[in-house]
Amino acid sequence: MKHTKIKELLSGTNALQEVNVKGWVRTFRNKQFIAVNDGSTINNIQCVVDFENTPDELLKRITTGAAISVIGTLVESKGSGQNYEVQVSKIEILGDSDPEKYPMQPKKHSLEFLRENAHLRIRTNAFGAIMRVRSVLAFAVHQYFQERGFAYVNTPIITGSDAEGAGEMFQVTSLPLDGSAPRNEDGTINYKEDFFAKHTNLTVSGQLEGEAYAMALGQIYTFGPTFRAENSNTSRHLAEFWMIEPEVAFCDLDGNMDLAEDFIKYVVRYAVEKCPDDLKFLESRLLEEEKSKPAAERSEMALLEKLNFVLDNNFKRVSYTEAIDILKASKPNKNKKFQYIIDEWGADLQSEHERFLVEKHFKCPVILFDYPAKIKAFYMRLNEDGKTVRAMDILFPGIGEIVGGSQREERYDVLLEKMQALGIDEKELYWYLDTRKFGSAVHSGFGLGFERLVLFVTGMTNIRDVIPFPRTPQNAEF
Ligand code: 4AD
Ligand code: MG
Repeated sequence: MKHTKIKELLSGTNALQEVNVKGWVRTFRNKQFIAVNDGSTINNIQCVVDFENTPDELLKRITTGAAISVIGTLVESKGSGQNYEVQVSKIEILGDSDPEKYPMQPKKHSLEFLRENAHLRIRTNAFGAIMRVRSVLAFAVHQYFQERGFAYVNTPIITGSDAEGAGEMFQVTSLPLDGSAPRNEDGTINYKEDFFAKHTNLTVSGQLEGEAYAMALGQIYTFGPTFRAENSNTSRHLAEFWMIEPEVAFCDLDGNMDLAEDFIKYVVRYAVEKCPDDLKFLESRLLEEEKSKPAAERSEMALLEKLNFVLDNNFKRVSYTEAIDILKASKPNKNKKFQYIIDEWGADLQSEHERFLVEKHFKCPVILFDYPAKIKAFYMRLNEDGKTVRAMDILFPGIGEIVGGSQREERYDVLLEKMQALGIDEKELYWYLDTRKFGSAVHSGFGLGFERLVLFVTGMTNIRDVIPFPRTPQNAEF
């Protein structure tokens, strides 16, 4: 007999029929009521056992975590809480779960504990919901770009280039790790002997390769894993995360901001429409969590209200220079808490400044643009003032930076000069310079950190809780 997903059973379309449910036991009450979940929905289906006619031996094996197959009739439920339940005629234990040893007890576990059990935490309500929302968001990303004629490009994971020029790369080598690697005369490792005959890294961004594709296919996007060896032990950084990077030919910074805002609203709206049960659950989880916080730290809006607020309002576009003026003016203010007071035009914004602008001052998502050239990557388009570049960062409430992007420097001479000034080897990036030598044109793009988007939509606060197996400095066993 083919089994039916719980999501479908709860819709009632199979009422009064004999059905087969396969899933994992969440709880078993009074020898009678099994709550089964199969991952298709946040909701469990109640399976009612005729315990008087079921052998004790079998009843004992219905424990939290066990995999079971149930055959029975789908009937309207008399109890409150669910519309349908299964009147069981046959139970089979597919996989036992020792209740003394199973870590996911039917009680509230701390997020720290669940992080240590990343392989089992998916069986909790919260993580089931988060991972379904993540999957729906990933689909929405592809749908948005595919509907608009963007080509999906897979850029290299192992690469010789440092796209961001920030030196935060994980090195890749096929050379022995035991110290016997071939050495140069000065004692450094001789990467010429390596598989790639050169020094390679895991990619920090597919942007530069994406640009080459945009200069041929017109509009492209990447969506893939990205690696940063920045050892940032924060709730917003991962060593391995997923990034979405669109790149568009004949598009300037204004067009880039329009695209980013439209794209974010589309994927958020898609999740709101497709995941109502999961988001409602995550909203109630968040409300519960916030109760333990002091009133001043609780968020003013519930999760769905916050998502709808972003959908209904324009992102505020503000230049870096205006933002600095606002921060300077608010210096000795009620918000005396700035650890880093910005006195100088040209300083990089700390996350506390970003949060102030978004959460206290504008109270909505903010697009900051025209940053000082000195604090941004080499490839950004220099403005006529000679000191700012056509960069943009999108800042979100509770998240901080969710997008970083720019109009690219399309002028060969200006780009070459910048690379030389920064000591970037032009021989290494000859192919990137070629895109400016042959048929160069204005083009722009951005990178959206996928986990930061999932954080925002699910209302979670730690980035390790929105990626299936978090790669962080502490967590490398998976
Ligand atoms: O601002 P970033 O470093 O920009 C780039 O990599 C550009 N090449 C993008 C482009 O223009 N095509 O990173 C882009 C986004 C950030 O805004 C942030 O959302 C996310 O990637 N991000 C991280 N997410 C999780 N963990 C990390 N360590 C991250 N570093 C960046
Ligand atoms: Mg950035």
